Amino acid sequence: MVISTGISAMSFFTPHRYISLDTLAQHHGIDPAKFSRGIGQEKIAMPGHDEDVVTLAAEAAKPIIDQHGADGIDTILFATETGIDQSKSAGIYVQRLLGLPSNLRNVELKQACYSATAALQMACAHVARKPDRKVLVIASDIARYDLDSSGEATQGASAVAMLVTADPTLLEIGTVSGLFTEDIMDFWRPNHRRTPLVDGKYSALRYLGALVESWRDYQANGGLPYDGFAQFCYHLPFSRMGEKAHLRLAKEAKAEADMQAALPGMIYNRQVGNSYTASMYLAILSTLENSDSDLAGKFLGLFSYGSGATGEFFDAKVVEGYQDHLFAPRHRKILEDRTAVSYDEYVALWQARNGEDGTDTPMPDEAKGRYRLASIDDNKRIYVDRTA
Ligand code: HMG
Repeated sequence: MVISTGISAMSFFTPHRYISLDTLAQHHGIDPAKFSRGIGQEKIAMPGHDEDVVTLAAEAAKPIIDQHGADGIDTILFATETGIDQSKSAGIYVQRLLGLPSNLRNVELKQACYSATAALQMACAHVARKPDRKVLVIASDIARYDLDSSGEATQGASAVAMLVTADPTLLEIGTVSGLFTEDIMDFWRPNHRRTPLVDGKYSALRYLGALVESWRDYQANGGLPYDGFAQFCYHLPFSRMGEKAHLRLAKEAKAEADMQAALPGMIYNRQVGNSYTASMYLAILSTLENSDSDLAGKFLGLFSYGSGATGEFFDAKVVEGYQDHLFAPRHRKILEDRTAVSYDEYVALWQARNGEDGTDTPMPDEAKGRYRLASIDDNKRIYVDRTA
């Protein structure tokens, strides 16, 4: 008997400050339409000195724990490419901040923007074997490129937390996947660098190549036909990339591309920017929370891509009554309550070192959420819960 497995709760968090891409365009003296239309982005989320992938992740996961409790969770899988330690999993800090019990396994996964999908698949396999258990999967990333580089407009930050269970209440994850990996240098970040090296145009080409190859593999493995999907969610380094992906996939499937089947998934991402591992999962939330039609019983086509490069095309069936398990009002409020920063404030935030050189330092109190990185003491990151 095949046990249905998937996601029973999903929640996201993004910092309370952003720079508008109009401000960035004005500073660089270029047409704002290059960003709003050419790249398809409006805002870049900017974390403060006392925010990092741990605080973003804890903020994202807290509503899930508040609503579902910790019962049955025996694993935390933390996906990121903005790790804060080469050894220790960022999820261990989150486990403590959320007050989760000690009898859990806790591990961090990496493969550029793709690793949350590996985490989700592993979590589904685990709960299929142990249906009374649950897995907390968290994708959390801060996308940074050099100032004045062509990637600058595609920065961003967010975390998405997901509760993976048997008999899910939100999304049933399909058992068919299309997989593709090739050894390429399109985007990478050697250990000594704070920002990635990227061959932008090549990366966009290889993203589309991986989409086609993953789709072909998905079809070869007995996946759904193109017209079996109500909506498509893509990894969104910038929303225009999703538009190009959607056109390319339709061409490959010899179908008419309906952009309405991809646009709801881009609404949140346009406001947040790239958030690497969290990006496609933010697109799923955006689809579920912004789609005009009832998606119950319908299928989502999902494409996850991580440079370097790995792609996966898979599907999810939206569960009846899914609307009752979303945090849509909370998510809209997080986006609405944000503040725009000036170009100079953006540069100051961009330069925030966040203890990366190990220097002992208290962090300025900037985060608006419950959790913050209070200081670095003797190379140890000290996270606090303001309410404790
Ligand atoms: P660029 O050089 O700034 O952009 O780099 P451009 O000059 O090619 O212009 C972009 C688009 O804007 C073009 O449209 C222009 O025509 C248009 P396109 O040719 O693409 O259709 N444009 C305008 N449109 C309207 N009005 C105007 C105007 N002017 C120009 N006035 C690039 C763009 C994406 C290369 C750059 O931002 C970059 O390098 N980004 C980072 C890399 C990236 O995001 N790659 C995406 C695929 S790889 C991936 O997704 C993985 C990743 O998330 C990392 C991971 O896996 O960890 C990045």
